[in-house]
Amino acid sequence: MSQLLEVSGISVSFDGFKAINNLSFSIGHAEMRAIIGPNGAGKTTFMDIVTGKTKPDEGSVLWGDLSRNLIGMNEAKIARIGIGRKFQRPTVFEDQSVFDNLMIAVRNDRSPLAVLFFRPKTKDNDKVHELASTIGLSQELMRKSGELSHGQKQWLEIGMLLAQDPKLLLVDEPAAGMTLGEREHTTDILKEAAKTRAVVVIEHDMEFIRRLDCKVTVLHEGSVLAEGALDHVTKNQDVIDVYLGR
Ligand SMILES: Nc1ncnc2c1ncn2[C@@H]1O[C@H](COP(=O)(O)OP(=O)(O)OP(=O)(O)O)[C@@H](O)[C@H]1O
Ligand SMILES: [Mg+2]
Repeated sequence: MSQLLEVSGISVSFDGFKAINNLSFSIGHAEMRAIIGPNGAGKTTFMDIVTGKTKPDEGSVLWGDLSRNLIGMNEAKIARIGIGRKFQRPTVFEDQSVFDNLMIAVRNDRSPLAVLFFRPKTKDNDKVHELASTIGLSQELMRKSGELSHGQKQWLEIGMLLAQDPKLLLVDEPAAGMTLGEREHTTDILKEAAKTRAVVVIEHDMEFIRRLDCKVTVLHEGSVLAEGALDHVTKNQDVIDVYLGR
């Protein structure tokens, strides 16, 4: 398959309400994609389905060159085959240093004790420093993660996901609660990550989306309403009507 991820005919209802309605679209290898749409459009539910958290009522999500269907696979397996997801609330170990958090992620052992009982290998050490540089936290490696700013914690979590080298990184509302400077740095990190993998970003902040400078998929009532460059979709009358609540 030429695409990395191909969502076709996905639908899911919650108590009779169709949150995703015959949704179809695809994401290429090493593509940056933004997903926008009003509250309740089904953006987060789409990520829940791809990561195996929610099982759709119908449709398929095909993955990779072997076109494996992700539907029915459990969350751990989906993570192992190369899909990383960043949640809105960072899940870093606050009592551990930035270095230790990254080392835990590099080792793929999420237990906080693991880092205490293994001697770091040079290769892992190098990887931690490389990740710290990618996320702009090289100067903070010895700090306790709990002392980091909100934005820095988010970058650390992105670094921990990148440590697993996912082929697809899913990021839900990364800009929420960040200062302008933090938002700008976050776009840089995501753009860099998208050079070597696919990155899908859900975001309401249009300036953030503009800086990503990528194809945009607009969701509405669980389906694709429009797709294309930001300037293109924001001129689409259906999109204008939805955002104005008409
Ligand atoms: N597990 C669930 N149980 C019941 N209803 C749900 C569940 N998950 C999502 N929904 C409903 O599905 C709809 C789509 O929700 P979703 O969270 O995907 O929207 P969203 O596009 O991410 O919105 P927002 O921009 O506000 O985050 C909403 O009406 C939501 O209440
Ligand atoms: Mg959401």
